[in-house]
Amino acid sequence: MADRKRPSLFPLALIALAVLFVLAFSSGPGTAAQIDQFPQTTLEPKSEVARAIDDVLDGIVIWVIVIFVVVQAALVLTVAKFRHRPGGAPARNLHGNTTLEIAWTLAPAIILAFIAVPTVKVIFSNAKPTKGDVQVRVVGHQWWWEFQYPGKGVITANELHIPVGKTVSLELESVDVIHSFWVPAFAGKKDLIPGRTNHLWFTPETTGTYSGQCAEFCGASHANMYFKVVVQTQEEFDAWLAQQKAPVAPPDSGSLAARGLEVYSKGQCVACHMIDGVSYGVVGPNLGKVSTRQTIAAGMFPNDDEHLSAWIRNAPALKPGSLMLKQELSDDDLAALVAYLRTRR
Ligand code: CUA
Repeated sequence: MADRKRPSLFPLALIALAVLFVLAFSSGPGTAAQIDQFPQTTLEPKSEVARAIDDVLDGIVIWVIVIFVVVQAALVLTVAKFRHRPGGAPARNLHGNTTLEIAWTLAPAIILAFIAVPTVKVIFSNAKPTKGDVQVRVVGHQWWWEFQYPGKGVITANELHIPVGKTVSLELESVDVIHSFWVPAFAGKKDLIPGRTNHLWFTPETTGTYSGQCAEFCGASHANMYFKVVVQTQEEFDAWLAQQKAPVAPPDSGSLAARGLEVYSKGQCVACHMIDGVSYGVVGPNLGKVSTRQTIAAGMFPNDDEHLSAWIRNAPALKPGSLMLKQELSDDDLAALVAYLRTRR
């Protein structure tokens, strides 16, 4: 029987590689609010902590490339040199080669030591407790983030403001399940554990808005637990703090917002949300300055009237598992409520 030519695997391998390449460098579709948060990358560190982690990764990548090249070269060389040739002698069986066995035990051990020592060094230096110039208490909730500025009288949600060039130290806590605080640009992941306080610190080097998200599965909307980190100049940060603390005048009587305040005060909102002087709920985000924030629903949607209305009307439809209940409100009451929340800035 004539030798049938075997199909070459080369084109298939090329296609597989191309698919992997496309998958690796593309990100899935997201909501409008999500898209401007990408890319979330650890490869562009913006703090000393993130840079140290990135340096460890760079070292590991170099080792991986060296190992890949050496192993593949040895493989190709062996296959080429020792392939079966017509009329060639049959293959010999080899048993035991002490030199080789010592070499392939020692070499990986030495390489692992070169990887482990810098890694452990960075882990310890990042874990060192630091007082920091700015302290923020971060509380994880299903499925949003609370940011408290102790001694400053400021509580906000899903948007952490910090000054550039100052070391920020975070106290991480949770009121329900384990979450994980992760802003790739600034630091590694750190868990928020009920009944325990974890610490994380970093010094942001550039101003701008950076995205973060929960990195520990915490229930139905784990994937919808985003937050923003807004790094500002000291002046902008001070102005932001002042704005967050400034009292808000009650709406003019007879205005739409005044009617909205009534809807708010008589509705279910007061059970979960806090607005200084109006309601004292602590289950949901503090709404005192809700209209200064860029997003709602923990980074899922832009904070515009359309999304805010849809959110109040039926939050669970927009965010699976949302603990914010569907509200039975007339269109007029809803418009009034949104108008009132827009005064909270
Ligand atoms: Cu919170 Cu995942």
